[in-house]
Amino acid sequence: MFDAIADRYDLMNDALSLGQDRYWRSMVARAVGARPGETVLDLAAGTGTSSVTFTRSGARCIACDFSLGMLRAGARRQRDPGVAFVAGDALDLPFADGAFDAVTISFGLRNVADPDAALAELLRVTRPGGRLVVCEFSRLRPPALDALYGQYLTRVLPAVARLLSPSADAYRALAAGLDAGWMAGPG
Ligand SMILES: C[S@@+](CC[C@H](N)C(=O)[O-])C[C@H]1O[C@@H](n2cnc3c(N)ncnc32)[C@H](O)[C@@H]1O
Repeated sequence: MFDAIADRYDLMNDALSLGQDRYWRSMVARAVGARPGETVLDLAAGTGTSSVTFTRSGARCIACDFSLGMLRAGARRQRDPGVAFVAGDALDLPFADGAFDAVTISFGLRNVADPDAALAELLRVTRPGGRLVVCEFSRLRPPALDALYGQYLTRVLPAVARLLSPSADAYRALAAGLDAGWMAGPG
């Protein structure tokens, strides 16, 4: 599914979140707090849109994802020498124990087949005393706002996606997944 939407993924994110995803990414970068010489793992990195925010301080970032389409779209666009794109499955990471100073995953945990197993893998590859930062959607309070957002996800989002992307079906599936398990607001 992500292979099918890779080329328009970032454009769609900006449009559907009204640019807010950039702000959420800057909050994640602050929480990760990458320092010069450190190595950061950005798991389920997609096109590496967050990955480049971790290298500004002089750190290196491994952008890991199992969608080759997303990785290729990212590698074509991102020219940051501090970012390396690596294919890998969150459930069986191709990295040694304690390999990273900081490990992070944005808008990805909800997509992996077994989130507990992915978290165990993230912990395994984080060095003792390192940082683990997860950015994910959660539920809104009050419930009325939550319900309104559910309507946005299941009606407005797929309609906008149909206008902007030839792969709108993938977004309909994404929205259904969000509505079923996860809701708005970074958590
Ligand atoms: C919504 S995108 C998020 C991409 C990026 N983190 C961002 O913030 O834009 C979710 C990503 O999770 C990846 N993904 C899902 N399951 C995965 C797994 N088991 N291993 C690696 N990547 C996975 C998908 O290929 C997709 O690129």
